[in-house]
Amino acid sequence: MKNIKINDLIAKVNIVDIIENFSKLTKFGSSLKTLCNVHGDKTPSLSINPKKQIYKCFVCDHGGNALDYLMWAQNFSWNEAVEYLIKASGENVENFQSLFQNKKPKSENEIKLLKVLQEASDIFNYYLNIYLDERNNDITNFVLKRNLSKELIDKFKLGYAPSFNSEDNYIDILEKKENEKAALINASILNDAGTHPFYVNRLIFPIIDEDNNVVAFSGRKIDDQDDKLPKYLNSKESLVFKKSSIIYNYNNARKFDSIIIVEGFMDVISLAKIGYDNAVALMGLYISKNLVDKLKNHKEILLCLDNDQAGLNATMKLISMFLKNNINAYVIVNEETKDVDEIINLPDGKEKIINIFNNKWKMIDFVWHYFSKDVEKDNYQQIKDMILKLVEYSKDFDQFLILDLSNRLAKQFEIDKEIISNYFKTNLNVVKSNHSNNNIIVQNGLESSLNQPININKILISIWQNPSFLNSQNIASINWPEAKYKKIYEDIKKYHENQVPLPEYSKDFIENKINNLFSKESLPKNMLSFDELITRSKKDFKKNKLDYIDHLINNSDDEKHTSELLKIKLEIKSRKE
Ligand code: UTP
Ligand code: MN
Repeated sequence: MKNIKINDLIAKVNIVDIIENFSKLTKFGSSLKTLCNVHGDKTPSLSINPKKQIYKCFVCDHGGNALDYLMWAQNFSWNEAVEYLIKASGENVENFQSLFQNKKPKSENEIKLLKVLQEASDIFNYYLNIYLDERNNDITNFVLKRNLSKELIDKFKLGYAPSFNSEDNYIDILEKKENEKAALINASILNDAGTHPFYVNRLIFPIIDEDNNVVAFSGRKIDDQDDKLPKYLNSKESLVFKKSSIIYNYNNARKFDSIIIVEGFMDVISLAKIGYDNAVALMGLYISKNLVDKLKNHKEILLCLDNDQAGLNATMKLISMFLKNNINAYVIVNEETKDVDEIINLPDGKEKIINIFNNKWKMIDFVWHYFSKDVEKDNYQQIKDMILKLVEYSKDFDQFLILDLSNRLAKQFEIDKEIISNYFKTNLNVVKSNHSNNNIIVQNGLESSLNQPININKILISIWQNPSFLNSQNIASINWPEAKYKKIYEDIKKYHENQVPLPEYSKDFIENKINNLFSKESLPKNMLSFDELITRSKKDFKKNKLDYIDHLINNSDDEKHTSELLKIKLEIKSRKE
């Protein structure tokens, strides 16, 4: 059994059984259908082919085998998915050991650091409990003032780093446990000089990674009057603690479909107190690409940062990242207090939270409000400034969002749509060419810019409004830029031919996204002009791609990247259309 391959394992399970463990299936001819939890649909668009043992979501345009399903739709790691499949197949895990990917083995120094950190965390937690038992001391008063129950202290493994002058010297204990001084310094247990404890007289929040290792601490001062000390002191970055890859409490929250993002540790803990175990805190508003990658796997994100300028700025930054990455997020507006923790500690705190969580803003509504709220209707300078800011902010948004914003501009400030759209177009080009050439941005940009199917949308709307175009001989040759467009086309076809109602997704797309994009005059009036539209859409598609790739090539200073782009360019050029 040593040479066992992953496909041997996949062949031992039935994909239908696997998916059925997560989601209700309905029969659909020879295949089965179910809701896709990745894009979160209301009518099933994930189809399973039992014969071929594969699935595909027609909206996400993503498919694969049982292993792919677990990793993609259920957010399993490779090892978790392999283990699940072995169990589902009724086989013995021991026989499949060779399939497990060894996680990168930890270096000796990492192991030392994790040991110190875990032992320190246990000691801090122990101290907190004994100080609480003794009552009548500063840390107990602080804990009471912040409404931290015993249960919450256990759950979040909170601790106390005693005062320097107390008898409770945690450094001694750690040194007796055979931890080297260097490890104590690197773990931010000792200061850099190795002479003093790093954390002194602070409430300690252990920061725990997704493998449940304590990787760092944050210490809250307990005397709010003392202005000399920073409110929170955080461990320095180390081999095991990289700010960019850690979100506080994600180890607990990751299993939930919905994630609440807040700013502070106390916000996370207070939310847990009233039953929300799915909150995470950004460590000092640190926003990284990594965060986006993690959040992509969740159905819904609620963004609930502090009610101050820093919170608002971070909210705007996150919204722009979320919109570009198709993350389904909403903004929760708290006008009552500084942060969530303070609301929860009000009388009726829980009801207040439920109320504000029910009043969630769509990101695009929030963006519009942010930019337009203080602009006067007849002040053209203000309007122009706002448009410039809006264009800069929305530079990587897809055309629907930009159109949505343009429509709002037109309506609220009574400006001609054409003018606004030109404004966006010309400014967009300027902004785009100033873009920094970072590979990640390039890749995201590549995808979003290839995706400008104005004429494809026109085709869909034409068929929607005029079913006779379904008879065009040329439809089969349409180059659908993404599977979702083809799916919408097929839905419209079914609607006209069999009177089957449009599925939710297509209905929303037609009615809310594209129906108002085109004036009646701009739509084809007869078969001749419809066919011409198809031809134009093919050219467009190719030209858009080539233009954008040229732009990337011009801006690339990485040889390997340039040669990849050139390859893509040749491949597209050689396509017959
Ligand atoms: P806040 O200043 O909003 O604190 O910082 P808070 O969470 O409301 O804390 P309390 O309620 O006053 O105790 C939000 C977050 O920013 C980071 C911490 O992660 C904190 O939870 N921060 C703040 C620091 O890292 N250092 C600081 O000095 C302050
Ligand atoms: Mn607070």
